Amino acid sequence: MGHKAKFRVWRGEGGEGQLEDYTVEVNEGEVVLDVIHRLQATQAPDLAVRWNCKAGKCGSCSMEINGRPRLACMTRMSTFDPNETITVTPLRTFPVIKDLVTDVSFNYEKALQIPSFTPPSNVKPGEFRMQQVDVERSQEFRKCIECFLCQNVCHVIRDHEENKPAFAGPRFLMRIAELDMHPYDTLDRKNAAQEEFGLGYCNITKCCTEVCPEGIKITDNALIPLKERVVDRKYDPLVWLGSKIFKRSSS
Ligand code: SF4
Ligand code: SF4
Ligand code: FES
Repeated sequence: MGHKAKFRVWRGEGGEGQLEDYTVEVNEGEVVLDVIHRLQATQAPDLAVRWNCKAGKCGSCSMEINGRPRLACMTRMSTFDPNETITVTPLRTFPVIKDLVTDVSFNYEKALQIPSFTPPSNVKPGEFRMQQVDVERSQEFRKCIECFLCQNVCHVIRDHEENKPAFAGPRFLMRIAELDMHPYDTLDRKNAAQEEFGLGYCNITKCCTEVCPEGIKITDNALIPLKERVVDRKYDPLVWLGSKIFKRSSS
C-alpha cells in the first residue's frame, strides 16, 4: 500500500541553504533514493543527488538520513513510521557542492598519500604464496565501496576541520593496516601511520564500524591491530636499543 511521506530535505549551495519540506508519494518496497528521485521528477527538478548503482555497491548515494550516515539506496522506507518526517541532509564532514552532493576530494587526496603495495622485486606475479588467513584479512578490507560514511562519522574530523591535514580517517588507516599486515609488503608503515596519518587521534570509539554498509570490522580488525603493531615497535626492547645505538653513533 502506498502512502504520502513527509520529507525534509537540505537545499542549498555556496555555503548557504536551509531545510525544505515536501510531501512525496511512496510505494511499497521503495527505498529513500526512490523517493528522492520521485521528488526530483515531480516537484524539485533541480535537486542535486549523487547516485549510480542503486544496489549498495558504488558508494555514491551516501547522505545523512534522520542524522545517521547511510546509503539512500539501501535504506528501506518500511523502516520508518509512515507519519514520521524523514530528514535528509548531506554528509556533514565534507563541503557541500549543492543540496545532497558533497565534495569528497579529501578522501582521494589521503588515498594518494599512501605509498602503494610494494612487493619484493624478486617475486613475480603468480609466485605469491599466502596463508588463507592473510588472504581473508585483505579480502575483508577490500569489500570497501568507498562510500566514506566511516570518514563522515568519525568525530576526529566531523566537527574539526583543523584535524583534517593530520588525520587520514578510518578508511585510509584501514588501507595502511592492510598493507602493513600483508606478508609480501616490504615497506614499514608503522611510523607513517602514527606520524603522517594520525593513528593516535583514533580512540577506538567504533562509530566508523557501526555505519559501514559492508559490515567491515574497521576498528577491531584494522585500527586496533595497527595500534598494537605501532606500540609493539615502540616498546620492543631490541628496537629501543637499536634507536639508542643509532642516536649515539650518529651524534
Ligand atoms: S574508531 Fe577511530 S577512526 Fe573509527 S570513528 Fe572512532 S575515532 Fe574515528
Ligand atoms: S570502510 Fe565501509 S564505511 Fe568506510 S568507506 Fe569503506 S565501505 Fe564505506
Ligand atoms: S547508488 Fe550505489 S551505493 Fe547507493
